[in-house]
Amino acid sequence: MMLDKPGQKPHDRLAEALADDMVAVNALIRSRMASEHAPRIPEVTAHLVEAGGKRLRPMLTLAAARMCGYEGDNHVKLAATVEFIHTATLLHDDVVDESEKRRGRPTANLLWDNKSSVLVGDYLFARSFQLMTETNNIRVLRILSDAAATIAEGEVLQMTAAQDLRTTEAIYLQVVRGKTAALFSAATEVGGVIADMDDTQVKALFDYGDALGIAFQIVDDLLDYWGSDATGKNVGDDFRERKLTLPVIKAVALGDDEERAFWKRTIEKGRQEDGDLEHAIALLNKHGTLEATRAEANAWIAKARTALATLPEHPIRDMLDDLADYVVARVN
Ligand code: IPE
Ligand code: IPE
Ligand code: MG
Ligand code: MG
Repeated sequence: MMLDKPGQKPHDRLAEALADDMVAVNALIRSRMASEHAPRIPEVTAHLVEAGGKRLRPMLTLAAARMCGYEGDNHVKLAATVEFIHTATLLHDDVVDESEKRRGRPTANLLWDNKSSVLVGDYLFARSFQLMTETNNIRVLRILSDAAATIAEGEVLQMTAAQDLRTTEAIYLQVVRGKTAALFSAATEVGGVIADMDDTQVKALFDYGDALGIAFQIVDDLLDYWGSDATGKNVGDDFRERKLTLPVIKAVALGDDEERAFWKRTIEKGRQEDGDLEHAIALLNKHGTLEATRAEANAWIAKARTALATLPEHPIRDMLDDLADYVVARVN
């Protein structure tokens, strides 16, 4: 029974509605993240998995399947697959980004080393593929393996666009759609596919996940300049990594000669000094690019909700609708 408790966050409401399924997903994650042969694997995976994480992507798969009336048990396998792919990309991403904090804890690359993160990430990728084959559904295998390739492309594209002040908003969108939205859209799409929904409905689920994922990453990038360390990550990481995210791309485009020189020194040449992050934030505020970025996230959320509205009415559909709002609520 799904009870709507006032004040409860959409994410928690969804978690409650999908509680039984999530218990099964978490049990499956725990059993498959282990390894009898290499003790380093359970050490690293337990560190990440015990820290929690929002489990947003597996919930999307469960929610999509359930709202489409699915009654089998492949949705649990697919939800765990999706979370494994996510966790593998996080392990690799923290190495690439040289990050020190993840899920409120020191990163695996800091506690162990880069080698452990890369290799355990590979292990989790492989485990995700083993899991998805157990569904015997070639269509979901295609969707999820395509997503895994697209995520990697997004990360590589971002790497080559970093430090390059010529990076456009179009390239940024391509990066974000790849590294983040591809897994969101695959997560929702496979839920509809296993429930045998028609092509229009599967497309609507894809579109919801795609737009939600894009908005999610835009908000994440916004919080890197606007947030606090309460988000479980360090503020200013993107600036230090010289990443061209949306607020900066917009500010570079609007900057005068002096400002361009500042961006050239800090982002292109990487000669950063004390106070540069504060100055960068002041420039973003001066040009209103944090606001403009927030408006873009809201526009993607509107797209996500439009796609969702084409699907049949269901209590879970309403929760997904609220979830879309909640993703941007962190900055609204
Ligand atoms: C982090 O995703 C990576 C991004 C796409 C920004 P989440 O914020 O969903 O990470 P966890 O799983 O909850 O830690
Ligand atoms: C998250 O990207 C990793 C992937 C989506 C593969 P970011 O590097 O932007 O996110 P955080 O800030 O580390 O979570
Ligand atoms: Mg990162
Ligand atoms: Mg990254």
